[in-house]
Parts: sequence; structure tokens; C-alpha cells
Amino acid sequence: MTEQSPALDNLLSETRTFPPDGEFAAQANAGAGMYAEAQSDREGFWAEQAEKLDWESRWDQVVDWSNAPFARWFVGGRLNVAFNCVDRHVAAGFGDQVAIHWVGEPGDTREITYAQLQEEVCRAANGLASLGVVAGDRVAIQLQMIPEAIVAMLACARIGALHSVVFGGFSPTALRARVDDAEAKVVITSDGQYRRGKAAAMKAQVDEALVGAESVQRVLVVRRTGAETPEEVPWTESRDIWWHELMATQPAEHEAEAFDSEHPLFILYTSGTTGKPKGILHTSGGYLTQAAYTHRVVFDHKPGQDVYWCTADIGWVTGHSYIVYGPLANRATQVVYEGTPNTPHEGRHWEIVQNYKVSIYYTAPTLIRTFMKWGSDIPAKYDLSSLRVLGSVGEPINPEAWMWYREHIGGGRAPIVDTWWQTETGAIMISPLPGVTHTKPGSAQAPLPGISAKVVDDNGAEVPAGGGGYLVLDKPWPAMLRGIWGDDERYRETYWSRFADQGFYFAGDGAKYDSDGDIWLLGRVDDVMNVSGHRISTTEVESALVSHPAVAEAAVVGASDATTGQGIVAFVILRGSSTDAGEQTVQDLRNHVAGEIGPIAKPRQIMVVSELPKTRSGKIMRRLLRDVAENRDVGDVTTLADASVMDQIASGLKSGS
Ligand code: WTA
Repeated sequence: MTEQSPALDNLLSETRTFPPDGEFAAQANAGAGMYAEAQSDREGFWAEQAEKLDWESRWDQVVDWSNAPFARWFVGGRLNVAFNCVDRHVAAGFGDQVAIHWVGEPGDTREITYAQLQEEVCRAANGLASLGVVAGDRVAIQLQMIPEAIVAMLACARIGALHSVVFGGFSPTALRARVDDAEAKVVITSDGQYRRGKAAAMKAQVDEALVGAESVQRVLVVRRTGAETPEEVPWTESRDIWWHELMATQPAEHEAEAFDSEHPLFILYTSGTTGKPKGILHTSGGYLTQAAYTHRVVFDHKPGQDVYWCTADIGWVTGHSYIVYGPLANRATQVVYEGTPNTPHEGRHWEIVQNYKVSIYYTAPTLIRTFMKWGSDIPAKYDLSSLRVLGSVGEPINPEAWMWYREHIGGGRAPIVDTWWQTETGAIMISPLPGVTHTKPGSAQAPLPGISAKVVDDNGAEVPAGGGGYLVLDKPWPAMLRGIWGDDERYRETYWSRFADQGFYFAGDGAKYDSDGDIWLLGRVDDVMNVSGHRISTTEVESALVSHPAVAEAAVVGASDATTGQGIVAFVILRGSSTDAGEQTVQDLRNHVAGEIGPIAKPRQIMVVSELPKTRSGKIMRRLLRDVAENRDVGDVTTLADASVMDQIASGLKSGS
């Protein structure tokens, strides 16, 4: 099996369990019987979930897997995704219910009801149509967490255009690569964004990205910070248009057209094992069905009663499925917060929970560990008694963080759902069900009713209880990706070739069964790092490093990190004979990577070396570099072409950062 991070060792000896509370169980959306129900009639089970949406015409077939690995779900059905997330709630008499309690970083707030959301989405749909956007076109969105980001996504969905949301922290180079790959016709961005109390330019960065971008016809700009100098907000008259000016001229009504269940909904780029990001393609009916179903049962969400808050950014899949599509399809009232968790103070999240009486809170282990570092006295100052379900996503949650979350945030009472899924799976796949599952700190436990997953060995055979191996998904699921944008071959190769004989989807994660058969996720087994829950490929960072004139060669590894899960550690060989990197060179290289990819990819540490450990066939042995990066004794070096390399590295290390 794969190498394991030492941080995960204690996870494997964890034995505590927490049975569901009787009162909670009595009112829970999920019931233990769902597993058997889904088992005995899988398609019937999913049809039942799909029936909770509003379809213009019903499907003739639940799933068509005849052209595997390209699935079709709810074949022949027609629906409008945005109508399902907004209009149908207004039509049912819930127009006055708050959809979004928005909290700006500087302290400004907005309450948006479903009726107001409907009006804004209609105006934006009309606005995009007036710019020539038609069904099937791609719209790139680089926006921070402001209501317009959600409105823009829903407006695209409403007219059948695909959105490609690009995280606000990505560099101009990264944005441009995504705009070009999807051939986006329109880009939506803002003048600037608030980050840690300061306004930072956004439009200027987007303009830098779009120089010579042939596909882009219009750029829509939301006014947020009020920046106005030409340096901050450069303007191209023939191309750029203010969001508020366009919306002011648009009718507040828009007839939503129904699209085929398999009509593409969005593209979201994610890191793979090669340098080029993959455009993960999702479609409409199956995606919305699973996003809504999982949001309902995993978070026990009750419309009109709960106040839900997912702290993700819409730049990631969690923001797509659990801020936009799942919660809105389920008529949630949710908090959307624009800023960082410690602005202006480290109790900001708990203050928001207290003020809005948040009942469901969904965040990432890296943030939980940060809260732990800040101290349990901070949440203790606030009334968190409204919280009744806590969620975790993005990486394996270590038992210490799980226990802290339970005690200091959940008051020792709120069930924790550790949800495993990926950009590719579209929605949650493995998770406890609150009110049903006896939870275990650190385990995502079992595939949800309707979902099938297994832990298998190298040959694809399921391992016995207690055994470890690779996580695979052995049956198609409604929200599964439908491919990689423009690259069917890469789709087959990346996900379906490893266990081609068995027809399994290979997730790229290592996993283990405990003696009860519960699943414990053990992190990636490929060259993808997980830094603060963000996927970054080692190759991507290596390419960024070697694009710097001073660098001859680079190897990057993810080393375990107490707060961020993994930290990026780079080993570089400089050009010429220099092994003497001054502090300045190291800083330059770190900034260069941030400039090429984005600040999230900035290496934690850069070590200048004279050689890299390679096998005789020239493959870099990252395992050995990880030993160095994690201050461990270096493991087996017998397959190295030159066994003395590791000694040279160890003795010649100059470390930066
Ligand atoms: C990891 C985020 C363990 C995993 C929704 C997966 C997790 C990758 C968990 C997907 C979890 C996510 N336990 N590992 N609960 N959730 N992961 O595409 O390695 O950004 O393959 O999707 O994050 O990351 P992505």
C-alpha cells in the first residue's frame, strides 16, 4: 500500500464512537432504512430523490451506462436548474423567506429574500442574453464572496450557459489558462475585493490576464470597493460594462426555458497529476438531484427552520454544491460571509453564528485547526447553542481536531459529519448520517444510501475488514463528472484506466476499512497535494519554478503540516554552479510561484540542492524528498541511480522561508 503520513498514524488507532442522540434521531431527515431501500432498488431510490425537483418533463430512463464511462442520468427529462433553486420557492409562497444573510468583511450586510433573488437572477439572465450569451456558451466568473457571484452563476444556469468559476486568489496566468481552455465569451469580475481589512484590486488583474484573449467579447464588472483610478480599474470602452448599469436597464422578469437533464451546467478546473488543470464538466439533472439529496440528509436541513452556513468559497466545488445548488434547491436560509475568519477579530465566525443563530455549520479541517491554535477561549465567549449539525470537508480530519470541534463548537452535542467527496464526484459520497450513524472521530465511515464505494488492493480486489488500499467508486452516481472539457481521452486515462478491467472509478485517495467495515480516508496516493483543503499538483508547482530563469530543475513534495494538512516543500537546482541561494533568491522564487499560480501555491519552504534523487530511469523519488522535508530518516535508497545523492542533499542543505 502507499506511504502514510505520520500524522495519520494516530487516526488508525482511534476507537471512540458517539451514538446518535435519541431526540435528534426522532426528527432526522435520514433513517437507517434508507441503506436497505437504496440497496434493493438503486434506480428507484434515485428516481425518488429526483422527484423532489421540479421537472418540465419526466425522464424515460433513470441511468444509461451503456456508453461507460460517459453516464447519462434521468435520460429524456427536462428542467431548469435556476428555476428549481429560486422560482419554485417563490411560486410556493416562500418569496419573503430570506435566502441569503450576506455579511461583508467591513461589516456591511444584506438580506436577500427568495423573491429578491428571483428578480436579480432574472435581470442578470436578461443582461447576459443582451450581451449575446446563448445556451452552451461559457462565462468565466472571478468574484469574491458577494451575492452577485451567486446571482451570476444562477443567471448562467437559467439561460443554459456554462459557468467556469475561477477562485479569486488565482493569478492572472491561471485565470487566462482557464479562460482560454473554455473559450469563455464573457468574464464577470469586480473592481476589487476586501481581504483582511484592505481593498485589493481585482479588475486590474483580470485585465492583465485578458490581454489578447481572443474568445472574450465582454467583461462585466461588479462595483464592490468603489476603486476608481485607472490603475485599479482600467477600462476598455468597447468591452467593459458595469454590472449595475447593465442590470438597471434589464426587465425583472425572465421566462426560464427547460433544458435536457444532460445539458452542461458548469466547468470547474481542478489540479491533476500533470501541470495542466482539468476542466471538470458537470451537467444538470443528476447533479442537482444529488446536491439537493445530500444537503438534505447529510446536514438534516429543514427549510424555514435552519440557518445554514458553509464557509467555502464559490471558487471551489464545495461552494458550487453546498452554497449555491444544494441549499438553494432545498430552500435554505443561509449565511454568506465575504471575508477572512480573523477580520477584524478571531471570533468573527462565532459572532456570526450567534447573531444569525446558525444551526448548521460546514467548514474544513484546516480552519478547525486554526481555530484550535487561536484558543478555545474565543468561541467560549459566544452563544453557539443554535448549532445542531457540524460538517467537515476537504481532507481527512484528525481525531484531535474532530474532538475539539465537537466539544468547543458543537457543545458536545451536535453530530459531526465528515464528508468525503471531490470536484469530480460533484456531491458528497461518503459520510455519516446525523441521527443514524454512530460517529467515529476521523472516519467518513460509509457510502451514502444510493452510493457505492470500495477499498481495493492493487489488483482491484476488495480488501477485508482491517485492510488498506485504494478508494474506488464501483457504480455510476447522478452527480458524477461527465468528462474533462475538450479531452475525453484524458478523462478515460485519469479516472478509468487504473482499474479498467473492473470498470472502477479511481479517486486517487488511499483508504482503509476498520474492523466494523467503516472507511477511513488516508490522503492522496498520487502527486496531488492537499494544502488547506486545496488541491495543488506537484507538477504544477514544479513547472512554475522552472519557468523562473534562475532554476534549472525542481522537485516538489507535500510535507505534513500541523495546520494546513500539507505544506509545499520545493527542492531546486539553480542554474550555473550556484548552490548558494541567498534569502533573496528563495523569496523571489516563492513569489514567482505565487505569481504564476496564486498565493495558495506559494511553497512553505524552498531548499536549494545540487542534485535530486532519481531512479535509473530518471524518475524523481519524491518519497525520499518527503523524508527530508518531514525531518525523518531517509528511507530505502537502493533504487537510486546515485546512492550518495541523499547524503549530498542532507549535508548541503540551505533552507529558505
Ligand atoms: C480530499 C473537495 C478525507 C480527498 C470536496 C479528495 C477528503 C480531495 C475529504 C478532493 C474528507 C475531501 N476526508 N479527504 N472528508 N474531503 N478530501 O476536488 O483527497 O477540492 O480526493 O473536493 O480532497 O478535493 P476537491
